[in-house]
Amino acid sequence: MPNDTKNKYFWWQTGVIYQIYPRSFMDSDGDGIGDLNGIIQRLDYLADTIGVDAIWLSPIFPSPMHDFGYDISDYRGIHPMFGSMNDFDRLLKETHGRGMKLLLDLVPNHTSDEHPWFLESRSSRENPKRDWYIWRDPSPDGGVPNNWLSHFGGPAWTFDEKTGQYYLHQFVRQQPDLNYRHPEVLPAMVEAMRFWLDKGVDGFRVDVISKMMKDPLFRDEPPDPAWNGVRPYLSLLHTYTSNMQDVHPVIHEMRKVLDLYDDRMMVGEIYLPNADLVKYYGTPEKRECHLPFNFQLIAAPWEATLVRKMVDDYEAALPPDAWPNWVLGNHDRHRLATRVTPAQARVANMMLLTLRGTPTCYYGDELGMENVPIPPEYVQDPPAVNQPEIAHIVGRDPERTPMQWDDSPHAGFSSPDAKRPWLPVADNYKMVNVESQLKDKKSFLNFFRTLTDYRNISPALKFGSYRSFDLGSAEATGHCFVYERKAEKEHLLVALNFSGQEQKLGLPFSGTGKILLSTTMNRTGDVDLSGLTLQPNEGCLIFL
Ligand code: GLC
Repeated sequence: MPNDTKNKYFWWQTGVIYQIYPRSFMDSDGDGIGDLNGIIQRLDYLADTIGVDAIWLSPIFPSPMHDFGYDISDYRGIHPMFGSMNDFDRLLKETHGRGMKLLLDLVPNHTSDEHPWFLESRSSRENPKRDWYIWRDPSPDGGVPNNWLSHFGGPAWTFDEKTGQYYLHQFVRQQPDLNYRHPEVLPAMVEAMRFWLDKGVDGFRVDVISKMMKDPLFRDEPPDPAWNGVRPYLSLLHTYTSNMQDVHPVIHEMRKVLDLYDDRMMVGEIYLPNADLVKYYGTPEKRECHLPFNFQLIAAPWEATLVRKMVDDYEAALPPDAWPNWVLGNHDRHRLATRVTPAQARVANMMLLTLRGTPTCYYGDELGMENVPIPPEYVQDPPAVNQPEIAHIVGRDPERTPMQWDDSPHAGFSSPDAKRPWLPVADNYKMVNVESQLKDKKSFLNFFRTLTDYRNISPALKFGSYRSFDLGSAEATGHCFVYERKAEKEHLLVALNFSGQEQKLGLPFSGTGKILLSTTMNRTGDVDLSGLTLQPNEGCLIFL
């Protein structure tokens, strides 16, 4: 097997990032909500069992929890629900002690309406922090200042009785947007960044980074002619609240802060087409994100030709020194296994871990966890609560349910006598859990871990080139996605069957290859490449 002898890549290029939604990962104190000590208890699982390299924690800071932590009231604290600063320091030390990195969620676009900055800002029009947020007079008819919408339903403006103006919030009304046109705001956020960087955190996932600047003229946004009539937020094109070109210098300033430290990184949350997305790498003179999250595949219809085209197009759009990355699941999108179907979930994970670039894996996707239907009385997520008629589309509770560790009550997420978990545990937890999957050699988890094990020693997977292929028949090309990964001394082929039928590939290679791993875990060893056939829903990693 090849050896990893190169050392010129950064950890955030060669490693696998694993997202933890802290409320749902592990509850150590029996209150039904996950916490930092819970994560510490499971660090061996992350480092040794599944072999990931970095952990990203969704927000753990003090918050009134109107958006489950994405409404921050103190950027330099830990919410008591998750633990104490001592617990955090221990988590960081223990994570580093196992050779892993720790990323925090930075939420610069908005604060909680209970943050002291906003309390000051709303206290009077004369307050020095008034313009730290975005305040506008009512329109002449007394209504909202313009047509901007909140992601979570309703207008993006809330009227403040006391001072007679509206403030902007792109999410819930308890999340007022900061005003990065005010010279004191970015320095205040930079102080928060430095607080955690000084502690030794390895960087940040930066929330809605492309929405930090808004049109200074506050123009109405145009209707989107392609709107399907379902989600009100999507009825407009967000020309004036997202991807404003003057956000780039702000991000460059943030990057300069990271560059004051060794080996740190930031990954930006950006849902944009390739041409816009790649601008968030910045330029060699003015660098921005180390990685702008690539979400092309998180909403894509699961069809081989389409997925191949998306991958090829993204590869072609990357500037020469930009490092790619891939995401198939997160806390805002339906579970991967539900989206692509459980039968395809291994194929999808094989793709995630073998494409060129950094993979980010959402907790539980390594087990094939699925969306959990949430009975109406348990629905908690604000977009679902605010828009009950489309709760099943916009609600994010189904993908945030407790991690399934074992078959004990509460799935080992909390102790059996703990309070009921904050969201219901999946019905299938007795079958689908870490403990039972560890005992089954062919389980999803063992498949995932075999893949990360191989990835760890494979130069081709970590930094080899990428090229996709047409296959011998239109049928095979239509249903299978086949690509090579090539490094100096290692040539691999990844062959993924997106269909429920057997597919004879007709590969453009002859001779013998060696199957290193099949998603079925039923075959390894030599194969005749020209005659290679994939089983229904099978993916293979092949050594050439
Ligand atoms: C991001 C987060 C999402 C949150 C929103 C507002 O999109 O991923 O969970 O609700 O920002 O902070």
